[in-house]
Amino acid sequence: MAKERQLWGSRLGIIMAVAGSAVGLGNFLRFPVQAANNGGGAFMIPYFISLLLLGIPLMWIEWTLGRYGGGFEHGSAPGIFHSVWQKNRFIKYFGIIGIFGPLIIFIYYTYIESWTLGYSVFSLLNKYAAASDKSAMQQFLNAYQGLEKNSYFSNLLPAYTFFVITFLANITVAYYGIKSGIEKLCKFAMPILLVLGIIIMTRVLLLGVPNLMKPDWNISNGMGFLWNPDFSSLKDAKVWLAAAGQVFFTLSVGIGVILTYASYLKKADDVVLSGLAAVSTNEFAEVIIGGSIVIPAAFIFFGPIGIQDVAQSGAFNLSFVTMPLIFKQLLFGEFFGFIWFLFLFLAGITSSVSLAQPAIAFLEDEFNFDRKKAVKIFGVATFIFCQPAIFLLGHGVLNELDFWGGTFSLVLFATIETVLFAWVFGMDKAWKEIHRGADMKIPNIYKFIIKYITPTFLFLILGFWFYQDGVPTILMKNVSAAEKPYVLGTRVFILLIFIILAVLVKIAWRKRKIRTYKI
Ligand code: PFF
Repeated sequence: MAKERQLWGSRLGIIMAVAGSAVGLGNFLRFPVQAANNGGGAFMIPYFISLLLLGIPLMWIEWTLGRYGGGFEHGSAPGIFHSVWQKNRFIKYFGIIGIFGPLIIFIYYTYIESWTLGYSVFSLLNKYAAASDKSAMQQFLNAYQGLEKNSYFSNLLPAYTFFVITFLANITVAYYGIKSGIEKLCKFAMPILLVLGIIIMTRVLLLGVPNLMKPDWNISNGMGFLWNPDFSSLKDAKVWLAAAGQVFFTLSVGIGVILTYASYLKKADDVVLSGLAAVSTNEFAEVIIGGSIVIPAAFIFFGPIGIQDVAQSGAFNLSFVTMPLIFKQLLFGEFFGFIWFLFLFLAGITSSVSLAQPAIAFLEDEFNFDRKKAVKIFGVATFIFCQPAIFLLGHGVLNELDFWGGTFSLVLFATIETVLFAWVFGMDKAWKEIHRGADMKIPNIYKFIIKYITPTFLFLILGFWFYQDGVPTILMKNVSAAEKPYVLGTRVFILLIFIILAVLVKIAWRKRKIRTYKI
């Protein structure tokens, strides 16, 4: 008997789920660091241009293609692409990237997410109280991650325990499905997350001048450090690439997860306004909340010189080294530390559950497994896949996974789906499909943008990025000799995952019957 396809329970539910996927660690850690290192306020020019020309169009494209593919009972990119271009035998293989990318990101994202859970508990228990300066806090983090042994932690057991809890939490949500799992989680977690974010932001804005000898180390100069524009940076292609990359990553577009979420819509559900509502929620969380926490706070405590180091040392150090040091100096610091890491955890879990969904939908829709069986298979496979990211963390594995899953796949997949939508599906048909059941009309200029500007912009980015970052990374230019075997090993491992997925697509299509569009 054919099983009923799952559906979202409410419109608010899917908006919260998509916003939940979008609002993640990227908003609060990655964004401020990218902005500070790429021209400050000037970064917002390429950022907003990318949002208008890439981010918002891709959001609409994915909602529309996903809903369309759902009508053929396909919830992952191979089937969705095939529904759009039925005569093409190869297009389904391009769709593999839309399962592969999220799977690879899931492998390392859940591990990082588990650190936030661990640190929220450590904050409450005052576990890092003895680490009183940057190097001590760094040692605490290194020991937790198993990179060194010291008096804070002598093994990976605590990190592994928090990982298992986080992993099981993700699998449990997936097990309950779209409406009773993901939708419930996001409807509950998103409002809490926004409130926690606003509490922390307010606390940072009220920091005043903690060091009376240094009156310049204040919030307005902290904001200035992040937002004062350096317009000369706009001449650098790297800044444009960073902005476009951030827009993709933060909106969760160009990777396949929104396609899957949208496949559980009904055919006449609005996508225009709902997609825009999810984008707006994400941008509020990113620019307003994300832009007002880590960098200004670090400036106030470390000053104009110290912040340079902090910003360059990357998003993880900022979150797990700098922020705990700051909280330690505040009244009720344990409480604020707890809130900060819980906030990050909620942001993380609402994103990671979306990363799991394309692979699960693929197993359900193409192999006709019931959801519980699909989730079990997914759980066992990804639990094994996560191990290298945990045990070989210090050897460049995580960067390599991020490169292939979180950067390369993203730009490539975004380009493919845009061309498919605007040129194969055809802009006239596409325009009608976007507006089916829509609560708002998209300005006509977007017809032109989606057909010409978005793909051109994407090809340019793909080309520049490949030349600037892709070739040196592929040739392992910045990898030390000691790390090379691990990086190569990671590549073999990733390639194997890709091949397995390709074989599964082949098997699934051999067995399948032609599907018709269900209303
Ligand atoms: N958008 C998430 C963040 O900003 O952290 C990360 C992410 C989630 C990227 C889901 C891609 C994705 F499919």
